[in-house]
Amino acid sequence: MISEIENLSPDAAAAEHARLAEEIAAHDRAYYAEDAPVISDAEYDALRARLEALEAAFPELARVDSPTRTIGAKPSGKFSEVRHAVPMLSLGNAFTEEDVRDFDARIRRFLRLSESDELAFTAEPKIDGLSASLRYEKGVLVTGATRGDGQMGENVTENLKTLGEIPHRLEGNVPDVLEVRGEVYLSHADFAKLNEAQEAAGKPAYKNPRNAAAGSLRQIDPAVTATRPLRFFAYTWGELSQPLGATQSEAVERLAALGFTTNPDMVRCDGVEGLLAHYRSLEERRAGLGYDIDGVVYKVDRLDWQERLGFVARAPRWAIAHKFSPEKAVTKLNAIEIQVGRTGALTPVAKLEPVTVGGVVVSNATLHNEDEIARKDIRVGDWVVVQRAGDVIPQIVEVLKDRREPGAEPFAFPKTCPCPLQTPAEREVNPKTGEVNAVTRCTGEFACPYQRKEHLKHFVARKAFDIEGLGEKQVEAFYEEGIVKEPADIFTLASRNASGAFIPPIAEREGWGEKSATNLFDAIEARRTIALARFINALGIRHVGEETSRLLARTYGSWAAFHEAAIAAGEEGEAREAMLGVDGLGDTAVDAIGRFFAEDHNLAALDRLLAEVTVEDAEAVATDSPVAGKTVVFTGSLERFTRDEAKARAQSLGAKVAGSVSAKTDYLIAGPGAGSKLKKATELGVTTLTEDEWLALIGG
Ligand code: IVH
Repeated sequence: MISEIENLSPDAAAAEHARLAEEIAAHDRAYYAEDAPVISDAEYDALRARLEALEAAFPELARVDSPTRTIGAKPSGKFSEVRHAVPMLSLGNAFTEEDVRDFDARIRRFLRLSESDELAFTAEPKIDGLSASLRYEKGVLVTGATRGDGQMGENVTENLKTLGEIPHRLEGNVPDVLEVRGEVYLSHADFAKLNEAQEAAGKPAYKNPRNAAAGSLRQIDPAVTATRPLRFFAYTWGELSQPLGATQSEAVERLAALGFTTNPDMVRCDGVEGLLAHYRSLEERRAGLGYDIDGVVYKVDRLDWQERLGFVARAPRWAIAHKFSPEKAVTKLNAIEIQVGRTGALTPVAKLEPVTVGGVVVSNATLHNEDEIARKDIRVGDWVVVQRAGDVIPQIVEVLKDRREPGAEPFAFPKTCPCPLQTPAEREVNPKTGEVNAVTRCTGEFACPYQRKEHLKHFVARKAFDIEGLGEKQVEAFYEEGIVKEPADIFTLASRNASGAFIPPIAEREGWGEKSATNLFDAIEARRTIALARFINALGIRHVGEETSRLLARTYGSWAAFHEAAIAAGEEGEAREAMLGVDGLGDTAVDAIGRFFAEDHNLAALDRLLAEVTVEDAEAVATDSPVAGKTVVFTGSLERFTRDEAKARAQSLGAKVAGSVSAKTDYLIAGPGAGSKLKKATELGVTTLTEDEWLALIGG
């Protein structure tokens, strides 16, 4: 895969990066904010791995808003927000024994340890639940939060207090500030009981224990959470006023002594062989543990070494999750359905004869695209092997060809959109590389009713206009009836309703009443003024998601300025160059903006919308690190830290680390023995610093 990526042209890599980033962001939303993932963990991991490989080969793609630098989704808005004093991070993955050996080797390199130096790890089950952080001040539980996006979580203190395994008060010699972190989960037995109760009450069953735990913890009413038998394993910590120990194992023992449940299957190992032995043992015992685990987490035992190793983007260098392979089952493929997305992508979905995979009933599987179906030669009526990795919509891994019925035809991927207009659907050809895109797209854009409907859903989504009481279901109903055909129509809904345009009026429809209709109109009114970033995001321009919208808002400051730049972005010239110069924006996004603003019907729809709403200017943001946004280069032999450590530190302060000196370089940090780079920097007039001067600049 890597060499295939290295052979991509920069444009093709950028396009692929943008597509992957968008896809990953959508999956993050589904998983973290909606508790409703649509792909398996393994598929998700594969997407991320590809994105990381792309960024490794094309470092300029590693933008600030790249999913490689963020985790999960922002809090949902249901609960108040809590800023984590210490970010809640994610873990890198290992899939093979070789990956684990590489992990050990990486750490040894970073710490300059030889093969014979002792390097101990802990190994413990990776619980498939959701993480929570419990903050104790002077021994009293003051806040309990979900992970959220890693920086900001949701305040679910009252809900967490209902868990039997979470003490409200800690006794004895407790640090003044102690944040205990761990996993909230449901046992298999309790999951089965909960689903029986849900069904008896006419409510939908939860898909798996993880989703049930997440859904149970994020109940508005803590009394409901209290009825759910949620459990908690403590395995790490956040802010501390005093250390819990000198090693990971000591610290976890201390947590147990303070009254937390810690995992009985955590062991300390002297080396990689011990880790792998524990992995195999847990894999064998997996089904009998009574709760879902999806791998084994290895952590460097010495905490002073953890500290030195630090973090890369979203995950610590001192820990890794060694994943188990997914569980499988055989079933029949009854049909292939085509779904249309907001950007017109036709996504095939396998409709399966329901089957139990790893304790969960599965009836849909993702098929990705036309090539995937052809590559696996998947035909309707086939017996297929379905795989589910802990969560989510499973995938078809294999077709049992020997069980194929005679006469089963290869699947003919539609050449038209399934919408009533049956607009032609095409696979785009990248004009620069000549490569055919894997995605088949409906060419109807705004003419295609399915795409328009998806656009409207995006428009009212939480990250966009976020209109309370106007969710996907309501938008879909209004759209199908023809009373909301485009965004501007939402803002004329109340007046049209009042003037008797709708029969029956909204309040008299099924699912509505006087109160809910009034609430809806109030909620719409409350959104007539909207922040620039949200507004740009709401437009649903391809390749322009939440983060890019924020970037554009910050750069241009006002709708007028952005609008003017966007109109000019489609053609060569200064405005386009300026937009391309915005750190974090690439050709793909700028081209998409140019195309969007070149369409008359988009401009007309925008005019109608802007007659209804006011877009607020964005505030400029200040960064407090003296090197934020600066480009730095390290050269020569560094004496105070390894090259990796120096680079990581600079990046964590918002600096960009480049490999070579150019006119764009702000600082060259030169250690003894610096040669050609130092010479070039001097010629270009780039500021050069010694290691000590650099340390003084960044505050030691
Ligand atoms: S340690 C800084 N240990 O896995 C590292 N995480 O993919 C903090 N998880 O967010 C995580 N079991 O929700 C750790 N024994 C364990 C875990 C574990 C499950 C989850 C946790 C974390 C995610 C990372």
